[in-house]
Amino acid sequence: MTDPALDAEALRERAVASLITARDRTTLLTSCVDEPELTAQHSPLMSPLVWDLAHIGNQEEQWLLRAVAGHEAIRPEIDGLYDAFEHPRAERPSLPLLPPDEARRYAADVRGRALDVLEAAAFDGTRLTEAGFAFGMIAQHEQQHDETMLITHQLRRGPRALTAPDPEPVPLFTGPSEVLVPGGPFTMGTSDEPWALDNERPAHRREVAPFRIDTTPVTNATYQAFIADGGYDEPRWWTAEGWAHVRRNAITAPLFWRRDGGQWLRRRFGVTEAVPPDEPVLHVCWYEADAYARWAGRRLPTETEWEKAARYDPAGDRSARYPWGDAEPTPEHANLGQRHLRPAPAGSYPAGESPLGVRQLIGDVWEWTSSDFLPYPGFRAFPYKEYSEVFFGPGHKVLRGGSFAVDAVACRGTFRNWDLPVRRQIFSGFRTARSEEI
Ligand code: AVJ
Ligand code: FE
Repeated sequence: MTDPALDAEALRERAVASLITARDRTTLLTSCVDEPELTAQHSPLMSPLVWDLAHIGNQEEQWLLRAVAGHEAIRPEIDGLYDAFEHPRAERPSLPLLPPDEARRYAADVRGRALDVLEAAAFDGTRLTEAGFAFGMIAQHEQQHDETMLITHQLRRGPRALTAPDPEPVPLFTGPSEVLVPGGPFTMGTSDEPWALDNERPAHRREVAPFRIDTTPVTNATYQAFIADGGYDEPRWWTAEGWAHVRRNAITAPLFWRRDGGQWLRRRFGVTEAVPPDEPVLHVCWYEADAYARWAGRRLPTETEWEKAARYDPAGDRSARYPWGDAEPTPEHANLGQRHLRPAPAGSYPAGESPLGVRQLIGDVWEWTSSDFLPYPGFRAFPYKEYSEVFFGPGHKVLRGGSFAVDAVACRGTFRNWDLPVRRQIFSGFRTARSEEI
């Protein structure tokens, strides 16, 4: 066993580094456009960027300064403005929000004090501070809003504001298109990952029937074959709700796609390009993913199947933290953290492969599963019901694995994301599965 005091110091360093990484990214996302663009609403689905910025600071103040350290509120009058439940996104631009400079000063002021709290905090005692949980939670929260802000940047019209190198080109993936995941029990969720959020807990055993799952996410090329085959005109591929939704909204391709003569173009962060055939398809809603799978004679994996494919190691009959094992992600393993502004071609990151040979489970695109967002047996809301509990139920579908826009601190084999089945401004794609005939 390792020395718990040493573990605490390693976690404290990880907390400092994670908070700094998150703030660097927040600063980039809120300094690459001018002030009017920070206060504008670029889509009714999104907040003005300046709302995310002050909300990041306000959550940090509430959890690290007030809940952990017992400080008084710095500006009690602004709490309501930045409460996501008090004001839906469409309303936020008309609120008396802090202007950009004040929002920046507020977030920086909170951060300075939070780092002092972090330096002095005992990493045991309460559930909030044990293993530095609250600090890890707040770093994850900021990174989640950084992904949200990147979505806002993608929706924004106007010239390019962000740049990043493209992922390395790779030879066309020639491995098997699917692998068999053996049936039997495996351990889902976690009880010992220190910064796992409430909905990932507790670890529990689940029985899974044998199934086959795609080795890579579905690509633009194969998704185009679905379109070309009349996929959007054929009600038989769609659920009744999905069909009604695509008809009502005249949806005929992924979001941001446009046909130009014989080819498909798409807009990416202010730049129009030909749709790259080998990249995982992006910006599809759950209904589209589900319809494609039916057209292909397959289905979406359940959330349980996805996690077994990602974490189960038949050699040790155990569940690892990531497909490649327990080591923290590196750029060799996965496309994470907005290092690139797009997913990498299907078949990339052989070092990130699971023991069963499944690639790109972590990073690149969030993957829709067939499952509703529900609590695990023994779930307890912590530290607040509004993170997970209020979203449980049949209205939200689970997405797994993280996108190129999620940071490693907020992505792991157990991490659960969710959204409405109509949403496609998010960095969402999917892979398919089929039951193994026995
Ligand atoms: C887990 C991504 C669905 O953005 O709505 C941010 C994360 N919760 N602030 C969201 C979250 C509170 C959440 N998702
Ligand atoms: Fe939030």
